[in-house]
Amino acid sequence: MPILVTGGAGYIGSHTCVELLNAGYEIIVLDNLLNSKRESLNRISEITGKSFPFYKINLLNEGEIEQVFIENDIEAVIHFAGLKAVGESVRLPLRYYHNNITGTINLLNIMKKYDVNRLVFSSSATVYGMPEKVPISEEFPLKALNPYGRTKLMIEEILKDLFESDPNWSIALLRYFNPIGAHESGTIGEDPNGIPNNLMPFITQVAIGKMPELSVFGNDYQTADGTGVRDYIHVTDLAKGHLKALEKVASSQEIEAYNLGTGKGYSVLEMVEAFEVATGVPVPYKVVSPRPGDAAICFADASKAKRELQWTAEKSLRDMCEDSWRWQYNNPNGFDKNLIATGTGNPHLSKSGDFFNTKIE
Ligand code: WQD
Repeated sequence: MPILVTGGAGYIGSHTCVELLNAGYEIIVLDNLLNSKRESLNRISEITGKSFPFYKINLLNEGEIEQVFIENDIEAVIHFAGLKAVGESVRLPLRYYHNNITGTINLLNIMKKYDVNRLVFSSSATVYGMPEKVPISEEFPLKALNPYGRTKLMIEEILKDLFESDPNWSIALLRYFNPIGAHESGTIGEDPNGIPNNLMPFITQVAIGKMPELSVFGNDYQTADGTGVRDYIHVTDLAKGHLKALEKVASSQEIEAYNLGTGKGYSVLEMVEAFEVATGVPVPYKVVSPRPGDAAICFADASKAKRELQWTAEKSLRDMCEDSWRWQYNNPNGFDKNLIATGTGNPHLSKSGDFFNTKIE
């Protein structure tokens, strides 16, 4: 029976689809393609050699969600779909609450109606707010500091109440730290809309020449070199964590939160240096004022996921930098353009045609 992956065309969703297909799962992808590209679905099929149904629908349309459940006997759901830009959420809170929370409630209503009660939810370390100490464990107090983070926290609370009302549910809440990197093939990766908010896509755009220099947001934090420290985790390690969580919800009836991080923190300047060493490409930067709301240090205690999911992150910082660069170098304009560069740097037209059956346009 297939796994429904909402937001499966997105950054973490697409990498998880690759790991699911490689592990022998059948999948169905649901995505509104608002913050992702159809091309990423082609690339998933290119990497795995497998096709899968895709439904281009919006979770705000409960009827369209139901159609997916009518047409498919779904085993479980991995729910990525949602808006995720912190700054945008501050400017457009109602859009974030409506899209992320109403969309999730619509999905849960249909899951309940069709007796699908196994769920892996894409949450975020942002639910910890400004941690008082590190490493951060799942028992820490939860206090999101922006509307995006509050949607994640509210959905976690909704899922806890749902489980209290009906213990037949089995739910894993996965709290990601800082996902970076790309599939080792260099054919899928992070493809932010407009100017990147996050560090690594900004670094790779400086390296490829799309941005003149990196702005380092502050160097007066209480850290070794004064710049912010984060727990960067390879997106493929993160994807594999979802498969472990899927196994867990298939074999239990509980609701549990898990930190998905490496347990190690690196500063902004350490990331710049690691990228330059791994790729040989310089990353010019300037120090500017701190970004409001940024924590000084944030990294995970990932021991619960190791203990209960038998999962730990395996890829190195060098892997993260090399794989980020290979994706950016092969795809200077992300998925957007129909030109992809071969390893020799000679662009050629991407393959045409769909590698998957489109169920609903
Ligand atoms: C990392 C470090 C910045 C950009 C965010 C979201 C969080 C989650 C992960 C969704 C910080 C510094 C960054 C730049 C910089 N997303 N930085 N110059 O803020 O830890 O987390 O992404 O769940 O919700 O908040 O990640 O990559 O933005 O920043 O100096 O141009 O890099 O100050 O120290 P962050 P980030």
